[in-house]
This record gives sequence, C-alpha cells and structure tokens, in this order.
Amino acid sequence: MVGEVAGRAKVLVKERISEAGVELLRQHFDVDVRVDMTDSELTERINDYDALIIRSATKVTAGMLEGSCRLKIIGRAGTGVDNVDVKAATKKGIVVANAPESNSVAAAEHALALLMAQCRQIPQAYMSMKAGKWERSKFGGVELTGKTLGVIGLGRIGMLVAQRAKGLRMDVIAYDPYVSAERFRESGLEQAETLDDVYAKSDFITMHMPKTPETAGMVGDAAFAKMKDGVRIVNAARGGLVDEAALARALDSGKVTSAGLDVYTQEPIPPDFPLLHYDNVVLTPHLGASTEEAQDKAGTIIAEQVIAGLLNQFVSNAVNIPSVGPEALEAVGPFLPLAETLGKLIMAIADGPLEDFTIRCEGQLAEHDTRLITVAVVKALLEGRVEEPVNYVNAPSIAEERGLKIAEVKEKRSRDFTNLITVVSKDRRGDLTAAGTTIGPKHKPRLVKIYRHDIDLEPARHMAFFQYDDVPGMIGRVGTALGDKGINIAFMNVGRKKVEGRAVMGVALDDPIPQEVLDDIVKQPGFYEARAVEL
Ligand code: NAD
Ligand code: MLT
Repeated sequence: MVGEVAGRAKVLVKERISEAGVELLRQHFDVDVRVDMTDSELTERINDYDALIIRSATKVTAGMLEGSCRLKIIGRAGTGVDNVDVKAATKKGIVVANAPESNSVAAAEHALALLMAQCRQIPQAYMSMKAGKWERSKFGGVELTGKTLGVIGLGRIGMLVAQRAKGLRMDVIAYDPYVSAERFRESGLEQAETLDDVYAKSDFITMHMPKTPETAGMVGDAAFAKMKDGVRIVNAARGGLVDEAALARALDSGKVTSAGLDVYTQEPIPPDFPLLHYDNVVLTPHLGASTEEAQDKAGTIIAEQVIAGLLNQFVSNAVNIPSVGPEALEAVGPFLPLAETLGKLIMAIADGPLEDFTIRCEGQLAEHDTRLITVAVVKALLEGRVEEPVNYVNAPSIAEERGLKIAEVKEKRSRDFTNLITVVSKDRRGDLTAAGTTIGPKHKPRLVKIYRHDIDLEPARHMAFFQYDDVPGMIGRVGTALGDKGINIAFMNVGRKKVEGRAVMGVALDDPIPQEVLDDIVKQPGFYEARAVEL
C-alpha cells in the first residue's frame, strides 16, 4: 500500500512503547528509540526515517510533514489521532495508523475509577491521612447504585463503561448520534434522543467521544445549565470536550458537585491551571491508557501496523484508508488487484480525458463494505498521471482535487457472475467499460468486458486491444504484424458479439508493443482502433 522501501527501513520511536513492540520492529528494521527528541529536532530529522511511532505527547503538524519525502507511516500507539495532522499526512500519502482497541478497557476502567474516587473522595481522604489526620465526618460520599449515568459517545470505551456501570446496578442513558438504534437495542441501554435528555436525566455524566470541531467545548456553560443540580462529571476522553473555565464556574456555583479529569486542553497543565485548586476535582495526568496490559497491546499492535505499512501490506488500522472490518477485508481484499487492473485498463483504452466514473460491484462482493475497491480503482486511474506518487491513502483526495467524479454502485444480484466489478466512463466516442471477475480459490482476475464488448481474457502485463470488422483474416494480420517485429503473442481471445458492427480482439504479449506497430495495424482496412495496455 505504500512505496517500496529500499534497503533496511528506519523507524523512529519517539515516545515510549512496550519493549515487545520495539523488539518486533527490530526484527525487520533499524530502530531508533529517541524519547528525548524535541519537536524541532524531529522536524529537522524527519527525512531520516521511513516510519514514526508516537503516543499523545508529540504533535505531528502539517509544517513538520512539509519537508518529509521519506516518511511512509505514522504509528500512533493508542487511540486518539488528534495530535496528528491527518489531512496533511494524507496529502503526502503517509499512512496514519493507530491501535484503537489496545487501551479501551484501561480507559473505561479509569473513567469509572475517576467516578468512584470523586463519589467517595478517596484522594482527598488519602491526602488527609497522609497529613496525620483522621477526618471521618469530612469525607462522606454517595453511592453509584440506582443512580443514572449519562454516557456521551457510545463507541468502544463508552460501551465498556456503560456495560460496567450496569454491573454496578446503575441506570445508564447514552447519547451517540452516529450509533444505530439496533446497537442501542442490542446493548439494552436507554438511548437518549438528544444531548439535553442526557443532561436532564443524569446524576453523573461521562464523555467518550473524540475531539472534533463538533465536540470541542461541547460541555460548556449552556450544557451545565441544563444538567441536574449537583451533577458529577468525568472526562477521560479528550481535553477540551469540557470547557474548563465553564466547569470552574459550575463548581463555584454548586451546579456541579465534583469532577474527575484525566485529560486537559493543555497537556501538561500550566502551573496556573484553575481546576488544580479545587478540592472537589480529582485529577490524573492522562493515565487512561497507562496499564501494563494496554501498553503491551498498544506497543505490539502499532509495531505490527508499521511492519505491514513498510512491507507494503494492508494496514488494517490505518485511519486515512477506509477502515473495513476483518470480515469485509477477507471478502474484498482478493478483488483489489482486479480493481486496479480495471482502473488501468479503462484509462489505457480511453480516447481523450475521462472525468466521470461509476464503479459497480455486483454479486456476493456487494454484501460487504466495498469502499476499498473504489479506492483501488481510483488509485489506478491516477497512477502515472499526476506528479505525486499515488497510493491507497492519497488517491481519494487527489481525485477530489482534480475534480474526478466517482460514483459507487452495489448490487447483490449478478446475472452471469458470482462477483463482478465494472468500471464505466465516457470518452469522446461514448460509453466505455472495463469489467472483470475472479476465478478459483486463488481469485485469478479475468476480464469479461472491454469497451462495450464481452470477452474472456486473463489480464497480462503487456496487452493490446483491437476493434475490427469480424471478417476472415483479421487475427492473422495482427499475428503477422507482431511476428514481423519479433513480438510473441502469449495468448489471445476475441469478443465476437458485434457492437456497431465491430468485434474486439485482446492479445497478451511477451513484450510491450511499440506504438508504430499499432499504427501499422490500424492503418489496414477493417481495423478501427488499436490500443496498447501496460498493466
Ligand atoms: P470510538 O471512536 O470507538 O468512540 C467514539 C464515539 O463517539 C463514537 O461512537 C462516535 O459516534 C461518538 N461521537 C462522535 N461525535 C459525537 C457527538 N457529537 N456526540 C456524541 N457522540 C459522538 O473511540 P473510543 O476508542 O471509544 O475513544 C473515546 C475517546 O477516548 C476518544 O476521545 C479517545 O481519544 C479517548 N481515549 C482516551 C484515553 C486516555 O488515556 N484518557 C485512552 C483511550 C482513548
Ligand atoms: C489514547 O488516545 O490512546 C490515549 O490518549 C492514551 C495515550 O496515548 O497514552
């Protein structure tokens, strides 16, 4: 999926990851573990590395990536990629991959720990005892059982928190506009229609959404005003989801009884961080993922992702390649070479520029997420036609920049084939089609339609296609013209069902066919079109 790495690739591990992960990387690459490296040093030295591994402290900015022409993958040993300018990386064709499931349990448990700690004032009581006091009456608390927990964001971590809260005999109400009603039904959780419902009903509120333009500052003055008096807040997701100044005001007014925070708008927090001085706010320094288990998993998973990226294999956790589940990947993966072939083919046979494409997946294939098929076709449409190297990461954004219109169609019923991929466009002569299927357990690609003709031909590295009058002697003429130039035909086939009176002939060759040979053939009577295709 990414460019070839010449020699032994170099990986920079810029933040601490598990030794198991580093060891795995060392089996394949030269690895520099440089947790002391500053951001400016990183900017200077970025071209020394093929891969960069970070956690949440390193900010990978567009400026930093501007000078990089070597970096192929950024591995984020954790979940959030808000510290990486993914758009800038994508434009550069750099894969950004994370290890999202590695620390979900750790983060969920930490969120609940922050809830329990504030409800029973455990840190405060501990500090008091350390100071030699015995203040039993000062540190009363409230129970979780029977209380309503509002969960905002029902993704991996939100769901784990909700399930565990149920185990603690809490009522859970969750809000997530991007989660289907079915998932809510399956989980048995109460689905809030609006955020206001969560605010109105919850005794405690915990947030588990990513930081996006939509969620940044979401819990501010207006939100606090809608909450129950005495509500308690947990944020172990991302700093800035809660407006910290607004939280201070809500604590001052007594609207919020207490809060537990693991993440902050600025990390590390500045010395004058206002919430530091509230006894009813429990703070931890971004420890959500800091368990042995999570770090082991994050280090190993991110090492595997980087290895896949540098060895040109599919990077399953890439956030800037359509992420498809393992089942869909198993179903769709074998069709990617065919999809690329069809993209190259349609460009090679086009007469004039092509702008509009429809990519149709039919048959069993259409039961799966086929976005990768589209990306594979788009990559092939662009490769060799734009300045920059095109890969699965930057192909969609380059296509968009260039105004290519790409439509995707899926049909579960296919008339003649178990699976069929068709790429349709229009050149100055009219409709243009390249379609193919795969054969056998090894999914060998097979072309089944070219121009508007049915054909049955295995794709080959060097090919030529001819449109001609279906009269005796035409195949012989092509054979003679190629033979005269010492070009061997490996195999060939014809599509005899005439379209506008013409048939099509496809030949696979041992060598590329020079343009003058094609020109000589097409000059002969009865030939209309001759195209060389290099796949
Ligand atoms: P996820 O992508 O699985 O879940 C996020 C959920 O938020 C999704 O279901 C999404 O639909 C939902 N969401 C998005 N916008 C929303 C909105 N406007 N309102 C309500 N819901 C919205 O992510 P995850 O792995 O569960 O991680 C959740 C958060 O926890 C992320 O911010 C992540 O960075 C953070 N995190 C923190 C730590 C830590 O150390 N404290 C560790 C891991 C993850
Ligand atoms: C994450 O997003 O995974 C967390 O912020 C944890 C981390 O990177 O340490």
